[in-house]
Order: sequence, then structure tokens, then C-alpha cells
Amino acid sequence: MATRTVPNDFSTRDELLRQAADIARRYALGIGERRVAPAGNDLDNLKKFHEPFPEAPSDPLQVLKQLDDIGSPATAATTGGRYFGFVTGGTVPSSLAANWLAGVWDQNSALRVMSPVAAELEDVVLGWVCEALGLPADCEGGLVTCATTANFTALIAARHALLARAGWNVVDDGIFGAPPIDVVVGDEGHASILKALSLAGFGKKRLRRVEVDDQGRMRADKLPALNNRTILCIQAGNVNSGAFDPAAEICARAREQGAWVHVDGAFGLWAAASPKYRHLTDGFELADSWATDAHKWPNVNYDSGIVLVKDGMALRSAMTMTAAYLEAGARREPMYQTPESSRRARGVELWAALKSLGREGLCALIERTCGYAQRFAEGFRKAGFAVLNDVVINQVLVSFGSAETTQKVIRAVQEDGTCWCGGTVWQGKSAMRVSVSSWATTDADVERSLEAILRIARA
Ligand SMILES: Cc1ncc(COP(=O)(O)O)c(C=O)c1O
Repeated sequence: MATRTVPNDFSTRDELLRQAADIARRYALGIGERRVAPAGNDLDNLKKFHEPFPEAPSDPLQVLKQLDDIGSPATAATTGGRYFGFVTGGTVPSSLAANWLAGVWDQNSALRVMSPVAAELEDVVLGWVCEALGLPADCEGGLVTCATTANFTALIAARHALLARAGWNVVDDGIFGAPPIDVVVGDEGHASILKALSLAGFGKKRLRRVEVDDQGRMRADKLPALNNRTILCIQAGNVNSGAFDPAAEICARAREQGAWVHVDGAFGLWAAASPKYRHLTDGFELADSWATDAHKWPNVNYDSGIVLVKDGMALRSAMTMTAAYLEAGARREPMYQTPESSRRARGVELWAALKSLGREGLCALIERTCGYAQRFAEGFRKAGFAVLNDVVINQVLVSFGSAETTQKVIRAVQEDGTCWCGGTVWQGKSAMRVSVSSWATTDADVERSLEAILRIARA
């Protein structure tokens, strides 16, 4: 039988890793000089990736080179200091470095026996996250891809617990024919909550929606009657305005009436890390479950979602699976707290980021980015443009006039390449969103971005 060439042999590995490190270092260190959005010809070049599935192996060094030549110019420079789209954190250096090491380790963090270090670091970071966010120390939780999955996971735990209270075992009997569960969501609940609810079997038309105020906060005085088969979803940090639902009042009411409160705190919950902004998160600790992201404000690299549940048994009962070959150890097993089984060791980067930042670093990151959001708002107002939200944390909404003008400005800002901001519609008005979420943003980045935005808006 003829032997075939296997290109990924050991002899090429040393040179390949060296070149990968060189390319990566060049990219990371040059991020500030890069256009924030790729230029048109860089996007056109992406079509070079489209070729028939190669018959023959390729030289790994050439594969890496092609990835860099075509791929790097078509990245959005989200790890630089002038990306203000969506709610996108950069990557703190220790997280990036840990990610490299974790890549080399390539650990499957499903079970403790598969990666003792991954399981141990998960234990540590889940405790640290609860501490940083001011949540009960006895929460159980897991590391998932994103806040959408964290919301989904928590809602499945809630569904399990509420149906168990009604004498129904959802794992054995499913949800068809189960006692009805009532779901209450604010009118400004994030789209991902609606998706997670629908994945969990709660269709959009079945939800009871609660009116919000002019900042998008749920109105506690408009809450419907709740009971012990209600899941109430509240929000810490509106994706547009940054506003927080009045959790203390809502959670007190929910407790009296036996409802399960779930918090979507994808980014806003991290305000608890700062004594200056912590008051905004008051009362969220009284909820039953929480979803958040470390890839947003804490600047851990993707993907890094976190789910936390007060009733750990509910989470475990909903997520555990058994098979003869799966060991159930005496200690926490990562895969019994999340929908996924095999998965990368997300706790490695999360640990490195939190260890390197510490409380002080996390607090400084939150406060600095909030300060920059204030600077943007002040710059817009001074130039005569309307800021549409109360800038309470790191989110700014600005209108440049009519919907058409605002959209034109957003497109021109994105094409200009100095910085990147996205659009939205806030309470019927077209707006540009500025979300200051990166550790890498400096005073100079903010001034340079403001100058570019105002130059474009005035033109
Ligand atoms: C409040 C809120 N919830 C959920 C999400 C979804 O996050 P992810 O994309 O990590 O699922 C976002 C994203 O910005 C958000 O702001």
C-alpha cells in the first residue's frame, strides 16, 4: 500500500509555532495602526478562500501564511482601542497569553478526569465571579459560550425547578402536557432572552410583557401577579441605554409570591466591581439565576459566557447525563452544569484575566470605560447632537438628526475606519450606539474617534 504524506508531522511543528507566534505578535502589537473596519479590497480578497476541497495536503506553513495574508486584513480590529460596536470587550494581555497556552494544552474540560487543571480553574473562577458580582457564594454554575447560552441554561434550570415543585419531572416526562409555566419579561428584554425562552419551549406569544420607562427599565408598578410557577426575567444593563431594572423592588415582590427571578446581566452585572457604580446592581443578588459574559466588559477573549444558579441541584438535575463510561466523581463535574459535554477549557483565560486584574484592575477597567462614555456624551452634546439616554455606565446613544442622516453618519463612520460604531433604534428614534468596553481604549483613542465622528457628522 502506498504511504501518503501527512503534512502535520512533528518536524514542521517547531517552525510552524514560531511563525504563528511571530504573525500573532505582529497583529497584536500593530492593532492600533490598523483600520478598525476592513477596507473593501480586503473584503473582496476573502473570495480567495473559496476553492474546491483540496485533494492533496498543503504545507502547514503555507496554510498559516494564507490565513494571515487573506484573513488578518479582513478582521474587525476589536482588540484595539477604537472599536465601540455591540458590547465588545478586547482581550487583556494575560487572557490572550493564557489562551495561547490553553490552545497548546487543548484540554477537554467536560470531566475532571479529562482535565484536572480545567476543572480546578473552573471551581476557582466561579467563586471569584460570584464575589466580584456580589452574588451568593453558594451559587453553582458553568462556563458556556455566551450570554445567550447562559440565559438558556439558567431558564432550563428554572423550568426544571418550577415543574418539580408542581410534581412534574421534566427530564422523564418532557414539557408536553406539563403544568403551564408563566413567563414575564420586560418590554426591553434583550433579543437573546426571547431566543433562549423559545429554545426552552416558551414561545414569544405566551410571554407576559411588562412596560418600561424612558430608559428601558422595567416598571415595578406594572408587574403582573406572580406565583410559584412564574419565571420572571429581569435585566442588568440594557444593550442600548445601559439602564438597570429596579431589582430590589422586583425581587422582593417575586420572593413573596414564589416566582423564580432570572437576571440577564450580560455586561451590566460587572458594574458591581466598582464602588462607584455598584449601587446600580443593588437587589440583583436576590434573584435565583444569572447569565453574564466575561468576553464583554471583563475583556476575556471569546468565548466566555457564565451561568450561575442559586439552586445548584436544579441546574445539575437538568444538565446531568449518565452513561457507563462517564465517571461521576465526588467533586463538581463541569459538564453536569451546562448543555455542552466536550468543550474547550474556558476557565483558563477567565482565571488568568481575573488573576491579573484583581479587584482593583477590574474596578479600574469598569470606571475608565464609563468615564470615556461620559466624554463621548459630552463631546456629542457640545457639538449640538442629542444624546438619547442617561449615560449611567458605558453605553451612549446619539442622534445626528433625522433617521436618514443618522444612518448616513453611521455608514460613513464605519467606512472611514478610524473607529467603529453600530446603529440601533431607541424608543422609535434612529441612533448610533457607542459602547466603550475595551481595556485597550485610551484618552487618545477617544479624542481621535470623537474628532472623526464629529467631522463626519458635520459634513
Ligand atoms: C443584555 C444582553 N443580553 C444578552 C446578550 C447576548 O450576548 P451573547 O452575544 O454573548 O450571547 C447581550 C449582547 O450584547 C446583551 O447586551
